[in-house]
Formats: sequence, C-alpha cells, structure tokens
Amino acid sequence: MEIMEWVQLAIRWIHVITGIAWIGASFYFVWLDMNLTPPVKEGAKDKAGVGGELWAIHGGGFYEVQKYRLAPPEIPSTLHWFKYEAYFTWISGFILLVILYYFGADIYLLDRSRADISADAAILIGLGTIFGSWIIYDLLCKSPLINHQGWFGLVLFLLLTLAAFLLSQIFSGRGAYIHIGALMGTIMAANVLKVIIPGQIALVTATKKGEAPDPIYGLRAKQRSLHNNYFTLPVLFIMISNHYPMTFGNSLNWLLLAGLALVGVMVRHYFNMKNQGRAKQGFFLLPAAFVLFCAIAWLASPKSNEVPAEKVSFSDVEKIIHDRCTSCHAAKPSNADYPSPPKGVRLETPEQMAREKTRIRQQTVDTHTMPLGNITKMTEEERKILGWWISQGAAITD
Ligand code: HEC
Repeated sequence: MEIMEWVQLAIRWIHVITGIAWIGASFYFVWLDMNLTPPVKEGAKDKAGVGGELWAIHGGGFYEVQKYRLAPPEIPSTLHWFKYEAYFTWISGFILLVILYYFGADIYLLDRSRADISADAAILIGLGTIFGSWIIYDLLCKSPLINHQGWFGLVLFLLLTLAAFLLSQIFSGRGAYIHIGALMGTIMAANVLKVIIPGQIALVTATKKGEAPDPIYGLRAKQRSLHNNYFTLPVLFIMISNHYPMTFGNSLNWLLLAGLALVGVMVRHYFNMKNQGRAKQGFFLLPAAFVLFCAIAWLASPKSNEVPAEKVSFSDVEKIIHDRCTSCHAAKPSNADYPSPPKGVRLETPEQMAREKTRIRQQTVDTHTMPLGNITKMTEEERKILGWWISQGAAITD
C-alpha cells in the first residue's frame, strides 16, 4: 500500500505541473489576443496580413508579437504548438481519478446514505457522465446556439448545475465534485484534441498548399479556447475543494458549487474585459463576485443545533470515537488500507480526541465527511453527541 502512496504523489505532482503549464499558456494567449492592437504601419510591406501586434517586456528583454489575420504567406520552419500540456494534464488527472475514486470507490465515491449502489454501478455512472458531457457539449457547440454567446453560456451553466445536482444525489460530496471537475477538464482537453489542434493543422496545410485557409477553423478554435478560459477558475476551485469539507460536505453542495463556479466566471470575465480596455464597464464584477462569495459562505455555515443542558458523558464520546474512527486513526491502524494514520490524525487517547475537537466537528458533525464513506456506520445520534460534547467544552473527564 505504501508504494501506491508514492505512485499517487508522483502522478499528482505531474498533474499540478502540467496543469500550471496548460492554464498558464491559456491565460497568456487569451491575454495576448485581447491586448493586440492594429499594426502601427498598416499596409507596410512587412506587415501584410498582420491583424494585431503588441510589445511586452519580461525577464529583462523586449518581445514583439504579431498575430496574422489568418496565416503568414509562408509557414516558418520552426512553429511552436501547445498541446502536450493539455494532454498530460488530462491523462494524469484521469489516472488519479481511477486510483483514488475508482479503486477506492467504497470510501471516496460511494455514500450509502445517499444511494445504495454497487461500486461498479457508481464507476459506470461516473465515466458515463464524464464522456457523455463531452458529447452533449460538442453538439451544443455545433448548434445555432453557439452564435448567441450569452445564451450559450447560460445553457451550459444550467446543464452543469443539473449534472452537479444529480451526481450529488448519488455520490459522496467529494465524488460529485471531482466528477464535475473531471467532466469540465475532459471538455477542455477534448476541445484541444478534437477542435483546436485539427483546426490549426488545416490552417497550416492550406497555407503550405498556397490556398486561402477557411476562416471557420480559426473562428471555431477561438470559441473553444474562450470556453476553456472561462472553465479554468471553476475547475481550479474544484481541484482544491477537497481540503474544504464545508463545501462538498454540505447538504446543498451542488448549489455551493454552482455559486462558486459563478464567482470564478465573474472574476475571469472582469479580467477579460479589463484586457480589452473595458474595465470601466465591468467595474461591478469584482465587488459582485465578492458579495456572492460571502453569501455562499453564509449559506454554507452550519445552523447551530440546540445543545442540551445536561453534560454529555465523556465515556460515551470515547466509545463512539473508538468504534467509528480509531480503526483508521491510530498509530498502527487496524484497517489494512492505511499503513499510517491518515493526515497524521490519531484518535486513540482522550488528549488526542480533545486536541482534534475543531477538526472532528468539521469532519463529522458539520459535514458527513468522516468516517470516509461512513464505512464504520456512524449514526446521526452519535454525530449529535460529538457535537454537543465539543460545544460543552470537550472535557475529557466525566
Ligand atoms: C476508513 C478509514 C477512516 C475512518 C473510519 C475515519 N477516517 Fe478520518 N480520515 C481518513 C482518511 C483517508 C483521511 C484523509 C482524507 C483525505 O485524503 O483528504 C482522514 C482525515 C481525517 C481528518 C483530517 C481532515 C483534514 O483534512 O484536516 C480528521 C480530523 C478525521 N479524519 C477525523 C475522523 C473522525 C472524527 C472519524 C470518526 C468519526 C474518522 N476520521 C474516521 C480515514 C478514515
């Protein structure tokens, strides 16, 4: 088992590195596009076909960039492509999904209090959602709706919210979140593989043959990369969300996800407008995103439950934790899947239990994140007792 942890570490590391390279390039090129200005000496011989240009300074040097309306008269001998970042981000992400959520379906993907289905059924639903979403999205892009940017965005947003709602009825909170992230990441990577790169190949081929390239390829590629650009911030939130059980562990987790995705899209939109010199028209976007973020935090905050006057007996608490938690959270866990206590959290002695009271409340009372997959069958009553014990001061003597 220990070796699997190292495999996971290596793949996760690669995933983060390739993801940064991909999203960094995506941000950079969208920024470029939006900052281009018409060539200064339009019509000059060396500017034939150039649609926009810009100057930049970085790392101690000046850069002059020119973008051709369609293609340069001749394809240069060295032409840089950007695609492997996308492919490797997707591949490493998919391997992680399989290792963590599919091999570990019992604890990470399933939540028997939501849907009593087998691990195989859950995995099929997960894969079906990921690949099915690409098909639906691609059809949507080929429909007339694509000509109405605003409506397209709204329909896509509602469909994604519906997917989040449906998955949250079947999977654990984490499982639902990671599948929305995976399906969005899949759409992004498939946009590169199936639309953007083939369009660019067609562009290069036509230019090499001396034919005028069909502008539709450039247009489509640009639409898809803009979609990818708006997907980035929501996807990045999902990737870090598993550190925050107050999001995925909430009973309205799908709504929180939709709201936070909207926050990301608004922030992205503001920066896109700013880069086009339209910061003034978009001035309200950042404050509005902040207000929405605060509203979500308020909506997610646990509603306090009545604490009884009578003191909870610590021996009851100790027994609950020993029965439900210690099989994993011990120096030497009896659960064979864990060679060491997960996240270093040990819950064997009264002192350890009291020390971890804040995290115990987050993981077990405010949300149902622990026990993972409720594998030790903790009851609602037991969660309440732990909550009361913590509210009453988490004393370890009776
Ligand atoms: C099946 C094994 C298992 C059981 C049972 C279990 N846990 Fe965990 N626990 C884990 C794993 C695995 C993690 C690390 C989760 C991750 O990868 O994010 C964890 C993480 C935690 C954390 C740290 C969370 C963080 O990110 O800071 C706390 C606190 C915790 N568990 C408390 C509990 C409590 C309280 C119980 C009993 C009610 C419990 N656990 C039962 C496996 C278990």
